[in-house]
This record gives sequence, structure tokens and C-alpha cells, in this order.
Amino acid sequence: MPTSFPRLRDHLLDPSGGLVYHLRARRQRHRNWAAFHAAVAGWLDGWRIAEKELVIVGPNAGYALPGGFLSRFDGVVALEPDPLARHLLARRHDATALRFDRLDSLRTPDGLAWLAARFPHAAFLFSNVLGQISAPAEDWSALLQRHLAGRTWASYHDVISTLTAPSYRDTLTITETESLETTLARFWPGQAITVTDHATFRLSGTGPFAYAPWPITGTRWHLVEWVAHRAQDQAQVLTLLPDDACPPATLR
Ligand SMILES: C[S@@+](CC[C@H](N)C(=O)[O-])C[C@H]1O[C@@H](n2cnc3c(N)ncnc32)[C@H](O)[C@@H]1O
Repeated sequence: MPTSFPRLRDHLLDPSGGLVYHLRARRQRHRNWAAFHAAVAGWLDGWRIAEKELVIVGPNAGYALPGGFLSRFDGVVALEPDPLARHLLARRHDATALRFDRLDSLRTPDGLAWLAARFPHAAFLFSNVLGQISAPAEDWSALLQRHLAGRTWASYHDVISTLTAPSYRDTLTITETESLETTLARFWPGQAITVTDHATFRLSGTGPFAYAPWPITGTRWHLVEWVAHRAQDQAQVLTLLPDDACPPATLR
């Protein structure tokens, strides 16, 4: 790994955020986005973890984060390239233990490795960002598995986007193994729809997975997936072993 970490560059006009996102969020958060934000609040409420430090990747101004969420942690670090979003996030009532960091964990193939190393005790929340940014190598599932398998993380992210409104609009949790087509048919039953695939379906491979539709604009819908990854107990197993025991590779 190189010695200096990839740095976030400020942006205000980015397709995955920026001024347009602030305008939309301010207009829609209590209207068309309210049901989706309620779904996110439910997912986060159910995400009870042992870590006291949380790193949020792509929080923007926290429009989707329910009030009080940040105070659940002793320390919160936000990785967010939009300076206006950082300013607004810092003004939240529950942002008392918030700080910002300049690591860009998403731009380079080793970004998630930097994330794990820079915040060795934290859990990570990818806040509707992985479906917006192409993985810098392979795909996000492979990178998460390689660099964050031993850590606690959760993500909600776009799986597909489409111009066709879904007929089923509630949140769904799916425990069985099924294809993207089968999941889409739950929200668009009996409809042939044209979609943009954001290459994040069943991120990480282990479920359960939850889904909620998000009407990002008056005409465009995203299907958003929630997944919570529990740290694999590799570290725990290793601490039980004497120093001269088998190498870790044989234990997994
Ligand atoms: C679709 S918005 C989601 C915002 C917010 N989490 C929400 O759910 O409303 C994606 C966010 O990711 C941020 N972002 C873009 N590139 C990023 C990067 N490399 N690292 C961290 N955040 C990034 C954008 O600035 C934007 O705030």
C-alpha cells in the first residue's frame, strides 16, 4: 500500500451529490422522500452494534439519517466531499461528537483497506453511495469482502434505477436466495421494465437483504437495498490461539 492515503477532493457539482441534491432533498424530504427516509430510519434502528465509533461514508447533510442517530455513538467520523453538506451536517443537534476526515475510501482499489487501517475500532456506514460510484476495481462486493470482512459495516445503496413507477412501494426483507429479476418482480409485478443496473445487488452476498423504492425525482425511481455485515469472527478466533498455532489461513 502506498504511504499516503487517497484524499477527498471538495466538490459542489457532483452527479452523486452537490447543489442539485441539496435542492431536491430540501424540497422532497417531507414529501416524496418521506416513506423512503422512514425505511432508512427503521433499518438503522434495527442495526445495533457493539462499536462506539462510526464512520459514515457519503452522509451528505444527513437528510436520510433520523434525528438522534449520531448520538448513539461516542465518536462519528464523516467522509463527505461536499463542503455545503459538511457544513449542514455539523449543525445537526445530534452532531456533538462529529468530526470530518479527508480519506477518499472509494476512489482507489485500496481505498477500503485504507478505511479499515485508519479507523481500526470503528464500524462503517455506507450511506447511499456505493450504488452511485463505480467500483475502482472488480466490484464493490469483492472489495468489501477483501478489505472489510473482519469489520462491522452496513450499507444502503441503489440497486437499479428506472423511469417506471413500482406498484408495490413498501419495504421488503428477503431472506431466501433469489435473482435480481425475481426481486424486481416483487415491486413491479407483471411489468416489463427498463432498468439501469448499479451493480450492487446482494452486496457482500450474505443477507438478509431489505429493499425500499426511492422516488428520487418526479419521474425516476431507484430501488435501494439495505445490508448489514457482522464482523467475521476471525479476530476472535485468532486471539484464542497461542502464538505458534497454525497460520490464520487454515482457520477460516
Ligand atoms: C446520493 S448522495 C446520498 C446522500 C445521503 N447519504 C442520503 O442518503 O441522502 C451520495 C453522497 O455521497 C457523496 N460522495 C460522493 N463521492 C464520495 C466519496 N468518494 N467518498 C464519500 N462520499 C462521497 C456525495 O457528495 C453525496 O453526498
